[in-house]
Amino acid sequence: SVIAITDVLAGKFPVNEEITVHGWIRTRRDSKAGISFLAIHDGSCFDAIQAVVPNDLNNYQDEVLKLTTGASVKVTGQLVESQGQGQAFEIQATGVEVLGYVDDPDTYPMAAKRHSIEFLREQAHLRPRTNLGGAVTRVRNCLAQAIHRFMHNKGYFWISTPIITASDCEGAGEMFRVSTLDMENLPRTDKGEVDYNEDFFGKEAFLTVSGQLNVETYCSAMSKVYTFGPTFRAENSNTSRHLAEFWMCEPEIAFADLADAANLAEEMLKYVLKAVLEERADDMAFFQQRVDKTVVDRLNNVINNEFVRLDYTDAIEILLNCGKKFENPVSWGIDLNSEHERYLAEEHFNGPVVLQNYPKDIKAFYMRLNDDNKTVAAMDVLAPGIGEIIGGSQREERLDILDARLEEMDLDPEDYSWYRDLRRYGTVPHSGFGLGFERLVAYATGVQNIRDVIPFPRAPKTASF
Ligand code: 4AD
Ligand code: MG
Repeated sequence: SVIAITDVLAGKFPVNEEITVHGWIRTRRDSKAGISFLAIHDGSCFDAIQAVVPNDLNNYQDEVLKLTTGASVKVTGQLVESQGQGQAFEIQATGVEVLGYVDDPDTYPMAAKRHSIEFLREQAHLRPRTNLGGAVTRVRNCLAQAIHRFMHNKGYFWISTPIITASDCEGAGEMFRVSTLDMENLPRTDKGEVDYNEDFFGKEAFLTVSGQLNVETYCSAMSKVYTFGPTFRAENSNTSRHLAEFWMCEPEIAFADLADAANLAEEMLKYVLKAVLEERADDMAFFQQRVDKTVVDRLNNVINNEFVRLDYTDAIEILLNCGKKFENPVSWGIDLNSEHERYLAEEHFNGPVVLQNYPKDIKAFYMRLNDDNKTVAAMDVLAPGIGEIIGGSQREERLDILDARLEEMDLDPEDYSWYRDLRRYGTVPHSGFGLGFERLVAYATGVQNIRDVIPFPRAPKTASF
């Protein structure tokens, strides 16, 4: 079977024995002495392995000297300890088989020179071949694995919640419609409205904005659950923090209040960031050098310090009294903007802040009403450099109050009959949150735009694959 270059560089194969590696050329360098040095990578780690190719190989002139960045090869030779600095091991090639040349090296978009991140974004099919694309991909994978491991170790069950749904969890009206109706010839009711009886599901259907409502049903039976999958929002936000398709990890905990959810969020963030520093030191060194000089310090700061807990009302006081002019004026009741969130996390506390107990009027119907009747047990985790990375709450478990909230927000209880059942049959206090996965990857890598940390970004007017 094919061996991974990461294992070779980690010393898992005996020195002086023959091995074969497969990969792509990162660079080719020819010495005057008639030797070529191929740097070969296969995506398994940041580093490439060097193959030293002597000019007495029978295909040296005709093939090896035609290899350019991006060409694919199979190289056999003796594994030796490396003389030069850099990697510990290299290969003294005895055979180089070319699997695929690069058609036109002069126009190959991923040639060895450094590209702007914006250019790479337009080459989504080729960008995993770059140093940046590879490093992001490995860190993203590491974070996803660490999330599952963390939840599993804590006894949570992973629940697959549906992508196609009828309910708008966040009530923000930002859902993409799923329909098989003929757009040119929509069926109409007598009243002239679109007749969704004729549609695939016999009613309106959408892509989910959050798995929360569905995962609450499993929480009300399995106690500790989470969902982790893609979610969709048709919000027309052309920012570096918003995607139309993004991934979310949403734990839901029975017999738990807001403080329990905040504690789990803090523990989870620390666990997964620690995993990245330990397991992907190679990629983190690259991010530190090329993307953000402060990234490793920042993560260590998060891992080693307690997150601040701050009530919304106190946050408003801080913002009003800080002497800073904000673009969006501050008063009790406003939904905080990213400038406010960043001021709190970056300038005032310089560390993650769990902001809690928001005014009910700016939050979703399912959040638990506090005794003051003005605020709900909601939380956002704000992180320096990115702002909101997690949103969550204690859920309203009291049927009468939930019904009053539905009415207040003009939502039809009929649409939530199954959700109300959870309150009718053995209701329990429960809490949960959603961790925006791309915001986490951006945070962990220092990459500024979350379009660069998901393989195929979807945003307004961009979805080319
Ligand atoms: O704060 P949000 O909207 O919360 C919910 O959806 C809850 N139902 C979660 C729960 O309690 N189970 O979204 C959660 C997180 C945000 O904090 C943010 O990190 C991320 O999801 N997020 C986005 N990430 C990328 N692009 C977008 N358009 C996002 N919208 C939210
Ligand atoms: Mg939110």
